[in-house]
Amino acid sequence: MAFLRPTNYLFVLWAYLIVFLSSNINAAPEASLVTKLPGFNGTFPSKHYSGYVTLDTKPSKHLFYYFVVSERNPAKDPVVLWLNGGPGCSSFDGFVYEHGPFNFEEGNKKGDLPILRLNPYSWSKVSNIIYLDSPSGVGFSYPLLPASDSQTAIDSHEFLLKWFELYPEFQANPFYISGESWAGVYVPTLTAEVDKGIRDGAKPKINLKGYLVGNGVTESDADGDSSLITFLHGMALISDKLFKASEAEICLSNGNQQQGDVNNCESTWSKIETAKEFLNVYDILEPCYHGDESAQQSNASSSPLLKRFHELGKSNKRALPVRNRMFGRAWPYRAHRVRGGKVPTWPQMTQSARAQGVQVPCVNDEVATRYLNDPTVRKAIHASPRVESWNLCVDLDYDSDLGSMIPFHKNLTAKGYPALIYSGDHDMCVPYTGTQEWTADLGYEIIDEWRPWFTNDQVAGYLQGYTHNLTFLTIKGAGHTVPEYKPSESLYFYDSWLQGNKI
Ligand SMILES: *[C@@H]1O[C@H](CO)[C@@H](O)[C@H](O)[C@H]1NC(C)=O
Ligand SMILES: *[C@@H]1O[C@H](CO)[C@@H](O)[C@H](O)[C@H]1NC(C)=O
Ligand SMILES: *[C@@H]1O[C@H](CO)[C@@H](O)[C@H](O)[C@H]1NC(C)=O
Ligand SMILES: *[C@@H]1O[C@H](CO)[C@@H](O)[C@H](O)[C@H]1NC(C)=O
Repeated sequence: MAFLRPTNYLFVLWAYLIVFLSSNINAAPEASLVTKLPGFNGTFPSKHYSGYVTLDTKPSKHLFYYFVVSERNPAKDPVVLWLNGGPGCSSFDGFVYEHGPFNFEEGNKKGDLPILRLNPYSWSKVSNIIYLDSPSGVGFSYPLLPASDSQTAIDSHEFLLKWFELYPEFQANPFYISGESWAGVYVPTLTAEVDKGIRDGAKPKINLKGYLVGNGVTESDADGDSSLITFLHGMALISDKLFKASEAEICLSNGNQQQGDVNNCESTWSKIETAKEFLNVYDILEPCYHGDESAQQSNASSSPLLKRFHELGKSNKRALPVRNRMFGRAWPYRAHRVRGGKVPTWPQMTQSARAQGVQVPCVNDEVATRYLNDPTVRKAIHASPRVESWNLCVDLDYDSDLGSMIPFHKNLTAKGYPALIYSGDHDMCVPYTGTQEWTADLGYEIIDEWRPWFTNDQVAGYLQGYTHNLTFLTIKGAGHTVPEYKPSESLYFYDSWLQGNKI
């Protein structure tokens, strides 16, 4: 029989409707499932999803996410949103180089796809984790538009509401917001936005429980020159004499004030600059990557300073290993950080730009760039052809319109949201000295005084606990992108803190 009788037809329609509805109500979107990744030949330890959430903005913004389901207990483990910084850097930085489910090894020959192996310290071992490319224009999200602190928080909040609609089975899990570097702005502003949404009855209700910030920019005073000088001195990168001179001259641009003899200040500053200029700002112990000359502009190499910089690299017999992995933005002295107004663009900061993307100083991002621009990979992860190429960081027109993050941290902790503020203690980009200072200056009582914390019976760093569930924690020997340098220590503090256990 070629045709169904009407009654059967109705039954089939009804059955379809049930299947259709239930798949929408109870389950993650199957079309977003990632079933295979080029370069990985094993079985995924948990489900992976990726795709876009389209915002109701004009023009529409299409925000890309990669979601890794927990390998432990997806129904009970927290859902954590992860954000890399910049502003303008893709959260695939975290996925590829920090705490994603795979370790990416360079391919056998130049030009080969990287080889993926399971990362035993993936944060997906203990949490469901969403890597979000934000704001629009970053990573695989599109289109590229001017952005600001406030608009980014509003957009990411809309993303979350729509995401939880797509993945209703995760609505009841405890939810945390995390990130590093410039995400020191994204995290508290988004957390405040989500908190406001909850109070205003936004649906679905987000089960917000707290937030984490790693080496995050916070405000110009705390992150300013003074904390950098203290760091440089403590790490033996400048002499006592220079340190004392900088203090005596009060050359430090605390607030907007410049005091002392201007000429002496300039001379002191230039000596300090000379002492630090060739270091890898993201980890003073790591070599600085100079590779991929083609990506560097001839202009840049014509400056005597940068010529010396290049020759430094050449004098090494073998290619510098470096990245390892990275980041944040390398802040030159006296750059305004979180002070309000336009953030300097990457080219302005580094004097070197690729066609669209930017070359982050000292950092080798070849593996991620090679992988994420491969057509088979892009297909596997549902990246849109509308995005011509993936870049670790893009040149974003960004307005820092919310100023200091201190009022956000005050309000959020006062409302009872636990906060873990952590610092890789060898990062010179956002040194722990400033972060230690502002966390102390929130004025909460110390309830767990500065002490070491341990993994494998070894000191892994130090922490100080405050009332209001505020914890400041250092990771000994880690750079700007903490899990890149100390993966097992990072998984330990991350899991312990999320579980509410003593670190
Ligand atoms: C995956 O590749 C490795 C070598 O890279 C090989 O030893 C292993 O047998 C392969 N596994 C499967 C399931 O193909
Ligand atoms: C160097 O940069 C300037 C402006 O940034 C540009 O006008 C000039 O053409 C560049 N020179 C070379 C050799 O690329
Ligand atoms: C913090 O809370 C106070 C009091 O509710 C409010 O006036 C202020 O706008 C809040 N600040 C931020 C940055 O959320
Ligand atoms: C600290 O967080 C726990 C939940 O993690 C909460 O029960 C408690 O009330 C918080 N304490 C303060 C002082 O906010």
